[in-house]
Amino acid sequence: MTATTKSNQDRVFIFDTTLRDGEQCPGATMTFEEKIRVAELLDTMGVDIIEAGYPFASDGDFEAVREIARRANNAVICGLSRAAHKDIDRCAEAVRVAKRGRIHTFLSTSPVHMKYKLQMEAAQVYEMVISSVTRARNHIDDVEWSAEDATRTDFDFLCRCVEAAIKAGATTINLPDTVGYAVPEEYYDMFKRIRSIVPNSDKAIFSVHCHNDLGMAVANSIAGVNGGARQIECTINGIGERAGNAALEEVVMAMRVRNDKVPYWNNIESTSLTHASKVVSAATSFPVQYNKAIVGRNAFAHESGIHQDGMIKNASTYEIMLPETVGISATSLVMGKHSGRAGLIHKLEELGYKLSKNQIDDVFVRFKSLADRKKEIYDEDIEALVDQEMTSSHDHIRLVSLSVIAGTRGPQRATMKLDIEGTAKLAEEEGNGPVDAVFNCIKSLVPHEAKLELYQVHAVTAGTDAQAEVSVRLSQDGRSVTSRASDPDTLVASAQAYLSALNKIVKKKQRDMPSVAAG
Ligand code: KIV
Ligand code: ZN
Repeated sequence: MTATTKSNQDRVFIFDTTLRDGEQCPGATMTFEEKIRVAELLDTMGVDIIEAGYPFASDGDFEAVREIARRANNAVICGLSRAAHKDIDRCAEAVRVAKRGRIHTFLSTSPVHMKYKLQMEAAQVYEMVISSVTRARNHIDDVEWSAEDATRTDFDFLCRCVEAAIKAGATTINLPDTVGYAVPEEYYDMFKRIRSIVPNSDKAIFSVHCHNDLGMAVANSIAGVNGGARQIECTINGIGERAGNAALEEVVMAMRVRNDKVPYWNNIESTSLTHASKVVSAATSFPVQYNKAIVGRNAFAHESGIHQDGMIKNASTYEIMLPETVGISATSLVMGKHSGRAGLIHKLEELGYKLSKNQIDDVFVRFKSLADRKKEIYDEDIEALVDQEMTSSHDHIRLVSLSVIAGTRGPQRATMKLDIEGTAKLAEEEGNGPVDAVFNCIKSLVPHEAKLELYQVHAVTAGTDAQAEVSVRLSQDGRSVTSRASDPDTLVASAQAYLSALNKIVKKKQRDMPSVAAG
Protein backbone atom coordinates (compact mmCIF):
# COMPACT_ATOMS: atom_id res chain seq x y z
CA MET A 1 0.00 0.00 0.00
CA THR A 2 1.45 3.40 -0.90
CA ALA A 3 1.72 6.28 1.55
CA THR A 4 -1.06 8.15 -0.21
CA THR A 5 -3.60 5.37 0.34
CA LYS A 6 -2.82 4.88 4.04
CA SER A 7 -5.66 5.93 6.28
CA ASN A 8 -5.73 6.00 10.08
CA GLN A 9 -8.76 3.74 10.04
CA ASP A 10 -6.73 0.95 8.45
CA ARG A 11 -3.73 1.26 10.72
CA VAL A 12 -3.02 -1.76 12.89
CA PHE A 13 -0.92 -1.25 16.00
CA ILE A 14 1.68 -3.93 16.60
CA PHE A 15 1.94 -4.91 20.26
CA ASP A 16 4.93 -7.16 20.81
CA THR A 17 4.85 -9.50 23.81
CA THR A 18 8.06 -11.45 23.13
CA LEU A 19 9.46 -10.23 26.45
CA ARG A 20 6.35 -11.23 28.43
CA ASP A 21 4.25 -14.03 26.86
CA GLY A 22 7.30 -15.17 24.86
CA GLU A 23 9.63 -15.17 27.83
CA GLN A 24 7.00 -17.06 29.84
CA CYS A 25 7.37 -20.25 27.80
CA PRO A 26 9.52 -23.02 29.29
CA GLY A 27 13.20 -22.54 28.58
CA ALA A 28 12.92 -19.10 26.96
CA THR A 29 14.08 -17.17 30.02
CA MET A 30 16.24 -14.19 29.07
CA THR A 31 18.79 -12.41 31.19
CA PHE A 32 18.43 -8.70 31.97
CA GLU A 33 20.98 -7.78 29.28
CA GLU A 34 19.25 -9.96 26.69
CA LYS A 35 15.89 -8.34 27.42
CA ILE A 36 17.38 -4.87 27.01
CA ARG A 37 18.91 -5.88 23.70
CA VAL A 38 15.66 -7.33 22.35
CA ALA A 39 13.69 -4.27 23.52
CA GLU A 40 16.12 -1.87 21.80
CA LEU A 41 15.66 -3.76 18.58
CA LEU A 42 11.84 -3.80 18.85
CA ASP A 43 11.90 -0.08 19.58
CA THR A 44 13.92 0.71 16.47
CA MET A 45 12.05 -1.58 14.06
CA GLY A 46 8.71 0.16 14.53
CA VAL A 47 6.87 -1.89 17.18
CA ASP A 48 4.14 0.38 18.57
CA ILE A 49 3.80 -1.17 22.02
CA ILE A 50 6.38 -3.35 23.77
CA GLU A 51 5.07 -5.50 26.59
CA ALA A 52 8.31 -5.60 28.53
CA GLY A 53 7.38 -8.04 31.32
CA TYR A 54 5.39 -8.64 34.46
CA PRO A 55 6.90 -6.32 37.09
CA PHE A 56 5.25 -7.91 40.13
CA ALA A 57 6.74 -11.35 39.38
CA SER A 58 10.17 -10.55 40.82
CA ASP A 59 12.67 -7.77 41.35
CA GLY A 60 14.46 -8.98 38.21
CA ASP A 61 11.35 -8.56 36.07
CA PHE A 62 10.60 -5.19 37.66
CA GLU A 63 14.09 -3.87 36.97
CA ALA A 64 14.02 -5.08 33.36
CA VAL A 65 10.68 -3.38 32.66
CA ARG A 66 11.85 -0.16 34.31
CA GLU A 67 15.14 -0.08 32.41
CA ILE A 68 13.38 -0.76 29.10
CA ALA A 69 10.88 1.99 29.95
CA ARG A 70 13.75 4.37 30.68
CA ARG A 71 15.56 3.64 27.42
CA ALA A 72 12.71 3.43 24.88
CA ASN A 73 12.66 6.22 22.32
CA ASN A 74 9.60 5.42 20.24
CA ALA A 75 7.40 2.62 21.55
CA VAL A 76 4.86 2.68 24.34
CA ILE A 77 6.25 0.52 27.16
CA CYS A 78 3.72 -1.72 28.77
CA GLY A 79 3.82 -3.86 31.90
CA LEU A 80 1.45 -6.72 32.65
CA SER A 81 -0.42 -6.89 35.92
CA ARG A 82 -3.08 -9.10 37.48
CA ALA A 83 -6.15 -7.38 38.91
CA ALA A 84 -4.81 -7.09 42.49
CA HIS A 85 -4.06 -3.52 43.49
CA LYS A 86 -0.53 -4.29 44.71
CA ASP A 87 0.25 -5.82 41.27
CA ILE A 88 -1.08 -2.73 39.51
CA ASP A 89 0.84 -0.34 41.78
CA ARG A 90 4.10 -2.19 41.18
CA CYS A 91 3.48 -2.18 37.43
CA ALA A 92 2.80 1.55 37.50
CA GLU A 93 6.08 2.15 39.30
CA ALA A 94 7.98 0.26 36.58
CA VAL A 95 6.43 1.99 33.55
CA ARG A 96 6.23 5.47 35.09
CA VAL A 97 9.69 6.43 33.78
CA ALA A 98 8.70 5.75 30.15
CA LYS A 99 8.04 8.60 27.73
CA ARG A 100 4.79 6.74 27.08
CA GLY A 101 3.81 3.99 29.51
CA ARG A 102 0.89 1.57 29.67
CA ILE A 103 -0.56 -0.70 32.36
CA HIS A 104 -2.06 -3.91 30.99
CA THR A 105 -4.28 -5.52 33.58
CA PHE A 106 -6.20 -8.74 33.03
CA LEU A 107 -8.81 -10.94 34.64
CA SER A 108 -10.37 -14.24 33.59
CA THR A 109 -14.00 -14.10 32.53
CA SER A 110 -14.78 -17.63 31.28
CA PRO A 111 -16.89 -19.97 33.47
CA VAL A 112 -14.08 -22.54 33.67
CA HIS A 113 -11.47 -19.97 34.76
CA MET A 114 -13.81 -18.22 37.22
CA LYS A 115 -14.81 -21.50 38.86
CA TYR A 116 -11.49 -23.35 39.07
CA LYS A 117 -8.78 -20.73 38.78
CA LEU A 118 -10.25 -17.67 40.48
CA GLN A 119 -12.90 -19.45 42.59
CA MET A 120 -15.05 -16.36 42.22
CA GLU A 121 -18.63 -15.67 41.19
CA ALA A 122 -19.30 -13.68 38.02
CA ALA A 123 -20.59 -10.72 40.08
CA GLN A 124 -17.30 -10.54 42.00
CA VAL A 125 -15.32 -10.71 38.76
CA TYR A 126 -17.42 -7.88 37.34
CA GLU A 127 -16.68 -5.68 40.38
CA MET A 128 -13.00 -6.53 40.17
CA VAL A 129 -12.84 -5.48 36.51
CA ILE A 130 -14.07 -2.04 37.54
CA SER A 131 -11.82 -1.70 40.58
CA SER A 132 -8.68 -2.89 38.75
CA VAL A 133 -9.14 -0.62 35.75
CA THR A 134 -10.00 2.32 38.03
CA ARG A 135 -6.86 1.68 40.07
CA ALA A 136 -4.72 1.55 36.91
CA ARG A 137 -6.30 4.73 35.52
CA ASN A 138 -5.41 6.54 38.75
CA HIS A 139 -1.78 5.91 37.86
CA ILE A 140 -1.72 6.42 34.10
CA ASP A 141 -3.91 7.44 31.12
CA ASP A 142 -3.04 4.48 28.90
CA VAL A 143 -4.71 1.37 30.33
CA GLU A 144 -5.35 -1.93 28.58
CA TRP A 145 -7.80 -4.43 29.99
CA SER A 146 -7.84 -8.10 28.92
CA ALA A 147 -10.64 -10.59 29.42
CA GLU A 148 -8.52 -13.69 29.84
CA ASP A 149 -10.05 -16.70 28.03
CA ALA A 150 -12.46 -14.35 26.24
CA THR A 151 -13.21 -16.88 23.50
CA ARG A 152 -14.73 -19.31 26.05
CA THR A 153 -16.62 -16.59 27.93
CA ASP A 154 -20.40 -16.21 27.98
CA PHE A 155 -21.03 -13.54 25.34
CA ASP A 156 -23.44 -11.38 27.37
CA PHE A 157 -21.14 -11.41 30.37
CA LEU A 158 -18.19 -10.49 28.14
CA CYS A 159 -20.16 -7.52 26.77
CA ARG A 160 -20.98 -6.33 30.30
CA CYS A 161 -17.34 -6.60 31.42
CA VAL A 162 -16.05 -4.79 28.32
CA GLU A 163 -18.55 -1.98 28.79
CA ALA A 164 -17.61 -1.65 32.46
CA ALA A 165 -13.88 -1.67 31.72
CA ILE A 166 -14.25 1.11 29.14
CA LYS A 167 -16.43 3.10 31.52
CA ALA A 168 -13.75 2.73 34.21
CA GLY A 169 -11.18 4.17 31.81
CA ALA A 170 -9.66 1.34 29.75
CA THR A 171 -8.36 2.71 26.45
CA THR A 172 -7.58 -0.69 24.89
CA ILE A 173 -9.71 -3.81 25.20
CA ASN A 174 -7.98 -7.09 24.48
CA LEU A 175 -10.04 -10.23 23.87
CA PRO A 176 -7.54 -13.10 23.92
CA ASP A 177 -7.96 -16.56 22.55
CA THR A 178 -5.96 -17.71 25.57
CA VAL A 179 -6.12 -21.43 24.86
CA GLY A 180 -5.91 -21.27 21.05
CA TYR A 181 -9.40 -22.71 20.67
CA ALA A 182 -11.12 -20.27 18.31
CA VAL A 183 -11.55 -20.61 14.56
CA PRO A 184 -11.34 -17.52 12.35
CA GLU A 185 -15.08 -17.06 11.63
CA GLU A 186 -16.06 -17.11 15.28
CA TYR A 187 -13.21 -14.82 16.34
CA TYR A 188 -14.23 -12.37 13.60
CA ASP A 189 -17.82 -12.61 14.76
CA MET A 190 -16.97 -11.96 18.39
CA PHE A 191 -15.29 -8.62 17.55
CA LYS A 192 -17.93 -7.60 15.07
CA ARG A 193 -20.80 -8.24 17.50
CA ILE A 194 -19.13 -6.80 20.61
CA ARG A 195 -18.22 -3.63 18.79
CA SER A 196 -21.77 -3.18 17.58
CA ILE A 197 -23.52 -4.14 20.86
CA VAL A 198 -21.38 -2.49 23.57
CA PRO A 199 -22.58 1.14 23.64
CA ASN A 200 -19.21 2.76 24.48
CA SER A 201 -17.09 0.47 22.24
CA ASP A 202 -15.98 3.41 20.09
CA LYS A 203 -14.08 4.80 23.11
CA ALA A 204 -11.45 2.03 23.02
CA ILE A 205 -9.15 0.27 20.58
CA PHE A 206 -9.90 -3.45 20.37
CA SER A 207 -7.04 -5.92 20.36
CA VAL A 208 -6.43 -9.54 19.34
CA HIS A 209 -4.16 -11.91 21.25
CA CYS A 210 -4.09 -15.42 19.79
CA HIS A 211 -2.36 -18.61 20.86
CA ASN A 212 -1.39 -21.23 18.34
CA ASP A 213 -2.64 -24.48 19.87
CA LEU A 214 -4.52 -25.41 16.68
CA GLY A 215 -2.09 -23.58 14.39
CA MET A 216 -4.57 -20.77 13.72
CA ALA A 217 -3.08 -17.87 15.69
CA VAL A 218 -2.17 -15.75 12.65
CA ALA A 219 -5.39 -16.54 10.76
CA ASN A 220 -7.41 -15.71 13.88
CA SER A 221 -5.50 -12.45 14.42
CA ILE A 222 -6.27 -11.31 10.87
CA ALA A 223 -9.92 -12.39 11.31
CA GLY A 224 -10.15 -10.30 14.50
CA VAL A 225 -8.79 -7.29 12.62
CA ASN A 226 -11.41 -7.86 9.91
CA GLY A 227 -13.95 -7.81 12.74
CA GLY A 228 -12.76 -4.36 13.85
CA ALA A 229 -9.73 -4.91 16.11
CA ARG A 230 -6.84 -2.53 15.44
CA GLN A 231 -4.11 -3.93 17.67
CA ILE A 232 -2.39 -7.29 17.20
CA GLU A 233 -0.51 -8.87 20.10
CA CYS A 234 2.24 -11.10 18.77
CA THR A 235 5.80 -12.28 19.30
CA ILE A 236 8.95 -12.62 17.25
CA ASN A 237 9.23 -16.21 15.93
CA GLY A 238 5.79 -16.86 17.45
CA ILE A 239 7.27 -17.88 20.81
CA GLY A 240 4.92 -17.96 23.80
CA GLU A 241 2.98 -20.17 26.18
CA ARG A 242 2.54 -23.77 24.93
CA ALA A 243 2.33 -23.69 21.09
CA GLY A 244 3.15 -19.99 21.13
CA ASN A 245 1.52 -16.74 20.01
CA ALA A 246 0.81 -15.30 16.59
CA ALA A 247 4.17 -14.60 14.93
CA LEU A 248 4.88 -10.89 14.40
CA GLU A 249 6.74 -11.49 11.13
CA GLU A 250 3.79 -13.45 9.73
CA VAL A 251 1.06 -10.92 10.53
CA VAL A 252 3.25 -8.09 9.24
CA MET A 253 4.02 -9.81 5.95
CA ALA A 254 0.43 -11.01 5.48
CA MET A 255 -0.64 -7.35 5.52
CA ARG A 256 2.15 -6.38 3.17
CA VAL A 257 2.07 -9.22 0.63
CA ARG A 258 -1.74 -9.69 0.52
CA ASN A 259 -2.77 -6.11 1.01
CA ASP A 260 -5.46 -6.71 -1.62
CA LYS A 261 -7.21 -9.08 0.83
CA VAL A 262 -5.77 -7.88 4.16
CA PRO A 263 -6.08 -4.13 3.55
CA TYR A 264 -4.37 -2.75 6.66
CA TRP A 265 -0.99 -1.28 7.34
CA ASN A 266 1.47 -1.19 10.22
CA ASN A 267 4.62 0.63 11.10
CA ILE A 268 7.09 -2.26 11.13
CA GLU A 269 10.27 -2.00 9.06
CA SER A 270 10.00 -5.39 7.37
CA THR A 271 13.68 -5.55 6.43
CA SER A 272 14.41 -5.95 10.17
CA LEU A 273 12.39 -9.16 10.49
CA THR A 274 15.15 -11.68 9.79
CA HIS A 275 17.58 -9.95 12.10
CA ALA A 276 14.95 -9.71 14.87
CA SER A 277 14.28 -13.42 14.52
CA LYS A 278 17.97 -14.20 14.92
CA VAL A 279 18.41 -11.89 17.90
CA VAL A 280 15.41 -13.40 19.73
CA SER A 281 16.49 -16.91 18.87
CA ALA A 282 19.96 -16.15 20.26
CA ALA A 283 18.62 -14.46 23.40
CA THR A 284 16.20 -17.28 24.21
CA SER A 285 18.36 -20.03 22.67
CA PHE A 286 15.18 -21.27 20.98
CA PRO A 287 16.09 -22.50 17.52
CA VAL A 288 13.87 -21.29 14.68
CA GLN A 289 12.07 -24.13 12.92
CA TYR A 290 13.75 -24.64 9.48
CA ASN A 291 10.47 -24.31 7.57
CA LYS A 292 9.13 -21.41 9.70
CA ALA A 293 7.25 -18.91 7.51
CA ILE A 294 9.18 -15.72 6.66
CA VAL A 295 12.26 -16.30 8.85
CA GLY A 296 13.04 -20.04 8.71
CA ARG A 297 16.27 -20.93 6.96
CA ASN A 298 14.29 -22.80 4.25
CA ALA A 299 11.70 -20.05 3.75
CA PHE A 300 13.45 -18.89 0.57
CA ALA A 301 15.38 -22.07 -0.29
CA HIS A 302 14.56 -24.05 -3.42
CA GLU A 303 15.75 -27.61 -3.49
CA SER A 304 13.95 -29.47 -6.28
CA GLY A 305 15.23 -29.22 -9.85
CA ILE A 306 11.85 -28.07 -11.18
CA HIS A 307 11.65 -25.24 -8.65
CA GLN A 308 15.27 -24.22 -9.22
CA ASP A 309 14.67 -24.13 -12.95
CA GLY A 310 11.60 -21.90 -12.45
CA MET A 311 13.53 -19.62 -10.07
CA ILE A 312 16.36 -19.15 -12.57
CA LYS A 313 13.85 -18.14 -15.26
CA ASN A 314 11.87 -15.82 -12.99
CA ALA A 315 11.84 -15.64 -9.16
CA SER A 316 8.12 -14.95 -9.09
CA THR A 317 7.45 -18.53 -10.21
CA TYR A 318 8.00 -19.79 -6.67
CA GLU A 319 8.52 -16.72 -4.47
CA ILE A 320 5.64 -14.52 -3.34
CA MET A 321 7.90 -11.90 -1.79
CA LEU A 322 11.45 -10.78 -2.34
CA PRO A 323 13.87 -12.10 0.30
CA GLU A 324 15.28 -8.55 0.60
CA THR A 325 11.92 -7.27 1.88
CA VAL A 326 12.37 -9.35 5.03
CA GLY A 327 16.05 -8.51 5.33
CA ILE A 328 17.65 -11.60 3.82
CA SER A 329 20.86 -10.96 1.98
CA ALA A 330 22.26 -13.86 -0.04
CA THR A 331 24.62 -15.83 2.19
CA SER A 332 28.08 -15.02 1.08
CA LEU A 333 31.49 -16.38 1.80
CA VAL A 334 32.57 -13.50 3.93
CA MET A 335 35.94 -13.58 5.44
CA GLY A 336 38.99 -15.56 6.30
CA LYS A 337 42.10 -15.27 8.41
CA HIS A 338 43.44 -12.31 6.43
CA SER A 339 40.37 -10.20 7.04
CA GLY A 340 40.90 -7.22 9.30
CA ARG A 341 39.00 -5.33 11.95
CA ALA A 342 37.46 -2.87 9.48
CA GLY A 343 36.11 -5.75 7.42
CA LEU A 344 34.57 -7.32 10.50
CA ILE A 345 32.96 -4.02 11.55
CA HIS A 346 31.52 -3.62 8.06
CA LYS A 347 30.14 -7.16 8.12
CA LEU A 348 28.60 -6.69 11.59
CA GLU A 349 26.83 -3.56 10.36
CA GLU A 350 25.59 -5.40 7.28
CA LEU A 351 24.18 -8.13 9.52
CA GLY A 352 22.38 -5.50 11.60
CA TYR A 353 24.44 -5.60 14.80
CA LYS A 354 25.17 -2.51 16.85
CA LEU A 355 28.01 -3.41 19.19
CA SER A 356 30.03 -1.33 21.62
CA LYS A 357 33.76 -0.89 21.05
CA ASN A 358 34.56 -3.45 23.77
CA GLN A 359 32.18 -5.97 22.29
CA ILE A 360 33.73 -5.50 18.83
CA ASP A 361 37.19 -6.04 20.36
CA ASP A 362 36.02 -9.31 21.93
CA VAL A 363 34.25 -10.52 18.79
CA PHE A 364 37.38 -9.70 16.78
CA VAL A 365 39.54 -11.86 19.09
CA ARG A 366 37.01 -14.72 18.76
CA PHE A 367 36.88 -14.20 15.00
CA LYS A 368 40.67 -14.43 14.66
CA SER A 369 40.80 -17.57 16.76
CA LEU A 370 38.03 -19.14 14.65
CA ALA A 371 39.75 -18.10 11.42
CA ASP A 372 42.86 -19.96 12.56
CA ARG A 373 40.83 -23.15 12.78
CA LYS A 374 38.31 -22.70 9.98
CA LYS A 375 39.22 -21.68 6.44
CA GLU A 376 35.93 -20.20 5.27
CA ILE A 377 33.89 -17.99 7.54
CA TYR A 378 30.22 -17.44 6.62
CA ASP A 379 27.62 -14.96 7.85
CA GLU A 380 26.18 -17.68 10.10
CA ASP A 381 29.59 -18.12 11.76
CA ILE A 382 29.79 -14.39 12.51
CA GLU A 383 26.25 -14.46 13.94
CA ALA A 384 27.21 -17.38 16.18
CA LEU A 385 30.25 -15.42 17.43
CA VAL A 386 28.08 -12.41 18.27
CA ASP A 387 25.53 -14.63 20.06
CA GLN A 388 28.29 -15.96 22.20
CA GLU A 389 29.69 -12.53 22.97
CA MET A 390 26.22 -11.27 23.93
CA THR A 391 25.48 -14.15 26.24
CA SER A 392 28.87 -14.66 27.85
CA SER A 393 29.91 -11.13 28.84
CA HIS A 394 29.77 -10.64 32.64
CA ASP A 395 29.75 -14.42 33.21
CA HIS A 396 30.67 -15.66 36.67
CA ILE A 397 31.98 -18.99 35.43
CA ARG A 398 34.21 -19.17 32.35
CA LEU A 399 35.88 -22.03 30.54
CA VAL A 400 39.66 -21.69 30.55
CA SER A 401 40.70 -25.00 29.00
CA LEU A 402 39.39 -28.44 28.17
CA SER A 403 40.98 -31.63 26.97
CA VAL A 404 39.18 -34.88 26.39
CA ILE A 405 40.27 -38.45 25.75
CA ALA A 406 37.62 -40.17 23.66
CA GLY A 407 37.44 -43.21 21.41
CA THR A 408 36.51 -46.88 21.42
CA ARG A 409 38.30 -47.69 24.66
CA GLY A 410 36.35 -46.14 27.52
CA PRO A 411 35.77 -44.78 30.01
CA GLN A 412 36.18 -41.40 28.34
CA ARG A 413 38.00 -38.81 30.41
CA ALA A 414 37.92 -34.99 30.50
CA THR A 415 40.20 -32.46 32.16
CA MET A 416 38.74 -29.01 32.62
CA LYS A 417 39.93 -25.69 34.02
CA LEU A 418 37.35 -23.06 34.95
CA ASP A 419 37.64 -19.48 36.11
CA ILE A 420 35.02 -19.09 38.83
CA GLU A 421 34.71 -15.44 39.81
CA GLY A 422 38.44 -14.92 39.31
CA THR A 423 39.65 -18.18 40.89
CA ALA A 424 41.03 -20.95 38.68
CA LYS A 425 39.78 -24.47 39.46
CA LEU A 426 40.74 -27.77 37.85
CA ALA A 427 38.96 -31.14 37.65
CA GLU A 428 39.39 -34.45 35.92
CA GLU A 429 36.40 -36.77 35.52
CA GLU A 430 35.32 -39.87 33.66
CA GLY A 431 32.00 -40.35 31.90
CA ASN A 432 29.85 -42.59 29.83
CA GLY A 433 31.02 -40.91 26.62
CA PRO A 434 33.00 -37.68 26.17
CA VAL A 435 30.03 -35.31 26.66
CA ASP A 436 29.15 -37.01 29.95
CA ALA A 437 32.78 -36.69 31.08
CA VAL A 438 32.75 -32.95 30.23
CA PHE A 439 29.49 -32.35 32.11
CA ASN A 440 30.79 -34.38 35.09
CA CYS A 441 33.77 -32.00 35.29
CA ILE A 442 31.37 -29.03 35.46
CA LYS A 443 29.30 -30.74 38.15
CA SER A 444 32.36 -31.43 40.28
CA LEU A 445 33.70 -27.86 39.88
CA VAL A 446 30.34 -26.12 40.30
CA PRO A 447 28.04 -28.35 42.39
CA HIS A 448 24.42 -27.53 41.53
CA GLU A 449 20.89 -28.91 41.60
CA ALA A 450 19.90 -28.02 38.03
CA LYS A 451 18.75 -30.89 35.84
CA LEU A 452 19.72 -31.32 32.18
CA GLU A 453 16.47 -31.26 30.18
CA LEU A 454 17.80 -30.96 26.66
CA TYR A 455 21.08 -31.46 24.83
CA GLN A 456 21.07 -30.83 21.08
CA VAL A 457 23.80 -30.42 18.47
CA HIS A 458 23.67 -29.12 14.94
CA ALA A 459 26.10 -27.70 12.41
CA VAL A 460 26.10 -23.93 11.84
CA THR A 461 27.16 -24.31 8.18
CA ALA A 462 28.07 -27.18 5.87
CA GLY A 463 31.46 -28.92 5.83
CA THR A 464 33.43 -31.10 8.24
CA ASP A 465 35.12 -28.02 9.72
CA ALA A 466 31.73 -26.39 10.40
CA GLN A 467 31.10 -25.00 13.85
CA ALA A 468 28.92 -27.22 16.04
CA GLU A 469 26.09 -25.33 17.69
CA VAL A 470 25.04 -26.93 20.96
CA SER A 471 21.85 -26.10 22.87
CA VAL A 472 21.52 -27.01 26.53
CA ARG A 473 18.44 -26.60 28.69
CA LEU A 474 18.75 -26.77 32.48
CA SER A 475 15.89 -26.58 34.93
CA GLN A 476 15.91 -25.64 38.58
CA ASP A 477 13.13 -24.64 40.99
CA GLY A 478 10.48 -24.95 38.28
CA ARG A 479 12.23 -22.49 35.92
CA SER A 480 14.20 -23.63 32.92
CA VAL A 481 16.84 -21.78 30.95
CA THR A 482 18.26 -22.61 27.55
CA SER A 483 21.66 -21.57 26.26
CA ARG A 484 23.64 -22.29 23.19
CA ALA A 485 27.23 -22.02 22.10
CA SER A 486 29.22 -22.82 19.02
CA ASP A 487 32.75 -23.93 18.31
CA PRO A 488 34.43 -26.09 15.67
CA ASP A 489 35.00 -28.57 18.54
CA THR A 490 31.67 -30.11 19.60
CA LEU A 491 32.91 -30.82 23.13
CA VAL A 492 34.10 -27.25 23.69
CA ALA A 493 30.71 -26.00 22.39
CA SER A 494 28.97 -28.46 24.75
CA ALA A 495 30.94 -27.19 27.76
CA GLN A 496 30.33 -23.54 26.78
CA ALA A 497 26.58 -24.09 26.32
CA TYR A 498 26.24 -25.86 29.69
CA LEU A 499 28.26 -23.15 31.46
CA SER A 500 26.25 -20.41 29.78
CA ALA A 501 23.01 -21.97 31.06
CA LEU A 502 24.50 -22.25 34.56
CA ASN A 503 25.56 -18.60 34.40
CA LYS A 504 22.00 -17.64 33.45
CA ILE A 505 20.68 -19.49 36.51
CA VAL A 506 23.17 -17.70 38.76
CA LYS A 507 22.29 -14.27 37.27
CA LYS A 508 18.58 -14.96 37.55
CA LYS A 509 18.91 -15.95 41.19
CA GLN A 510 20.77 -12.76 41.97
CA ARG A 511 18.18 -10.54 40.26
CA ASP A 512 15.13 -12.42 41.48
CA MET A 513 15.54 -11.64 45.15
CA PRO A 514 12.05 -11.40 46.73
CA SER A 515 10.17 -8.41 45.40
CA VAL A 516 10.10 -5.55 47.93
CA ALA A 517 6.43 -4.90 47.21
CA ALA A 518 5.43 -8.54 47.42
CA GLY A 519 4.92 -8.65 51.17
O1 KIV B 1 -3.20 -15.44 26.65
C1 KIV B 1 -3.65 -14.59 27.43
O2 KIV B 1 -4.85 -14.54 27.75
C2 KIV B 1 -2.71 -13.63 28.00
C3 KIV B 1 -3.31 -12.50 28.76
C4 KIV B 1 -2.56 -12.24 30.03
C5 KIV B 1 -3.39 -11.29 27.90
O3 KIV B 1 -1.53 -13.71 27.78
ZN1 ZN C 1 -1.15 -15.08 26.03
